[in-house]
Amino acid sequence: MFKEEIIAKTMQYAKDTLGGEGSGHDWWHIERVWNNAKHIAEKEGITDTYVIELAALLHDIADWKFHNGDEEAGPRTARTWLESLEVEEENIDHVTDIIRKLSFKGAQVTTTMPTKEGMIVQDADRLDAIGAIGIARTFTYGGHKGREMYNPNIPPVMHNSFEAYKSNQSHTLNHFYEKLFLLKERMNTEAAKHIAEQRHHYMETFVQQFLSEWEGKA
Ligand code: ADP
Ligand code: NI
Repeated sequence: MFKEEIIAKTMQYAKDTLGGEGSGHDWWHIERVWNNAKHIAEKEGITDTYVIELAALLHDIADWKFHNGDEEAGPRTARTWLESLEVEEENIDHVTDIIRKLSFKGAQVTTTMPTKEGMIVQDADRLDAIGAIGIARTFTYGGHKGREMYNPNIPPVMHNSFEAYKSNQSHTLNHFYEKLFLLKERMNTEAAKHIAEQRHHYMETFVQQFLSEWEGKA
């Protein structure tokens, strides 16, 4: 099969699998990440985007958050799919390794992404977590989980392990401090850093306004 055909089939598979998802990890998130990734790759001068595109399309195919915390569910599901298309073993290893290492794991947890392709997909995913869309996704997720949008009595926690981050049940506004405001500094590529600046600023303004309104000041 040609690379274009494998990408097209994988796109359809992601669409069919995640189409009706309601927590902010739906097909449209995948499409935005895919587009972000292609855009960053172009800026970074990368011409072969095969692995980047497959990893972007499959990165949320079976997220641990919706599979009882099983971190291998994503890489495993992606591998099964790519094997069914007879993708070369080397590329399957690369794509599944990117998916395994992609996630944010807590404010005080350092993660490494060994390849340029992985760095690009990670930046593309993280750009979709910030800015106006990031705000919308975060409250969508909180609503999906039945959480309070804010509770001034519960301060944010800078998690020092993935386990602690995963078991967090806090109100939604804390997510801005526990993850979203930290992403700008963690972008790998110059292109993503540039886009993140403006999106970060927009989120800061939003949270300031939110807190002023909460106190009846705005
Ligand atoms: P990553 O792609 O880094 O693994 P996640 O899948 O954990 O990120 O999160 C993606 C998005 O889902 C977040 O950016 C946020 O919008 C939403 N989300 C995840 N966890 C929470 C949470 N505890 N509270 C509110 N929103 C969340
Ligand atoms: Ni994602």
